[in-house]
Amino acid sequence: MGRRPKNLIQRRVRRPKLKKIIQAPKGMPDILPEEDFYRRKIFKVVENFADYYGFGRIETPILEDSQIFLHGTGPTSEIVQKQMFNLRTRGGDRLSLRPEFTPNTIRAYLENGLFNLPKPVKLFSIGPLFRYEQPQRGRYRQFWQYNFEAIGDEDPIYDALIIQIFYNSFVDLKIKDLLIEINTIGCDNCRPIWRKHLKSYFRSKLKKLCPDCQRRYKLNVLRILDCKNENCQILKEGAPKMLDYLCRECHNHFKTLLEYLEELGLPYAVNHSLVRGLDYYTKTVFEIRETTDNLALCGGGRYDYLVEILGGKHTPAVGAAAGVERLAEILKNKQAKPESVFKPKVFLVLIGEIAKKKGLKILEIFRKANIWVAESFGKDSIRAQLRQADRTGTPFALILGQKEAMDDTIILRDMKSGVQETIILEKIVEELKKRLKNVIV
Ligand code: HAM
Repeated sequence: MGRRPKNLIQRRVRRPKLKKIIQAPKGMPDILPEEDFYRRKIFKVVENFADYYGFGRIETPILEDSQIFLHGTGPTSEIVQKQMFNLRTRGGDRLSLRPEFTPNTIRAYLENGLFNLPKPVKLFSIGPLFRYEQPQRGRYRQFWQYNFEAIGDEDPIYDALIIQIFYNSFVDLKIKDLLIEINTIGCDNCRPIWRKHLKSYFRSKLKKLCPDCQRRYKLNVLRILDCKNENCQILKEGAPKMLDYLCRECHNHFKTLLEYLEELGLPYAVNHSLVRGLDYYTKTVFEIRETTDNLALCGGGRYDYLVEILGGKHTPAVGAAAGVERLAEILKNKQAKPESVFKPKVFLVLIGEIAKKKGLKILEIFRKANIWVAESFGKDSIRAQLRQADRTGTPFALILGQKEAMDDTIILRDMKSGVQETIILEKIVEELKKRLKNVIV
């Protein structure tokens, strides 16, 4: 290379620089490698369940037409009332960051003609969702869920299957103290009668309810049952129960589902106040809680009218979703520190420019042979590199110096004995495989 002109060496480029480091948006934490370790464990378990029970993965866009949620999640839901991230494109389309997976999965089911497949169509998703909430422990504005839906069958065995999948996925993650809270909120035949009784029950108490519940009274009286306000909790104690107004079909559905849970030996409690915050549910609603922290790990239920609401034919369906952050936090608090997934068997030492140039190629040769190699490319001295090899704890090091790089050989060093021998580069993979068989790493 020729000499560089002086003015090119000296000049310093002035770049505009921010005065302080910009932070991630509120309630949208970064996921660092340490957290990723626990999340990967969760994803592995979920994928096993999905494969075993025949749920195919569906990935829908992060942005959807806002109408999907306005009509799907429902106009009286907290999500639509308060929690949507909405935007308008330059072309004028109104889009929303998806706050959940259910209505968008149904949109995709209808749009892609999945209703032509044998029923139930079993779909699952994993990915980020967005809700404008006040961030706190286990509650974020960007969070992940794994979500399972069984679309096209009304048999309560599918409600039980979904509950079993979520419950056992938590068991596989070694989460203890689990309780299934379950309820039925009836169907279009019987729910209006319950709603009428609820309205007349709360009418005389209206002034004593919290401002949110006064709004709920008008919008959707069922939601008062879900209120966490202490006073509202006392006021709802004598409220009429759905169980007393169920039509024959809903009654039989709930009874059979509870029999399935008994047969499975799953711990459940009927919670007459559980109504869930999404508008589409019919019959079954449930949540699985970790009882020590009283944290809802997952929630779900049956939604027999949603496909119709979104423009399809009458299609009963059931599903649920679990929050990945909540699970990851439990795993992090209960389990040992994450081990690195990177477990190298050999350390590559490179000395001199020619050797360095061959280094990346050698790494790829070993990757293809499935032998994991560690390196410290940035360090020049052989001592520093061998010290690093010692710290990494690999049984062998490979040393490529100037001479070896020119001869197409490499030095194999036994890190325990310090014995070194020169091997032809072409033979090194084979040779290492042989030797690694005799060492326990
Ligand atoms: P969901 O109850 O709104 O249901 O959410 C399910 C789970 O997601 C919750 O139990 C919780 O673990 C987690 N989660 C919800 N919001 C947050 C948040 N802001 N931060 C962290 N985790 C959160 C649904 O989303 C329904 N789509 C479930 C379903 C599927 N129903 C039928 N099919």
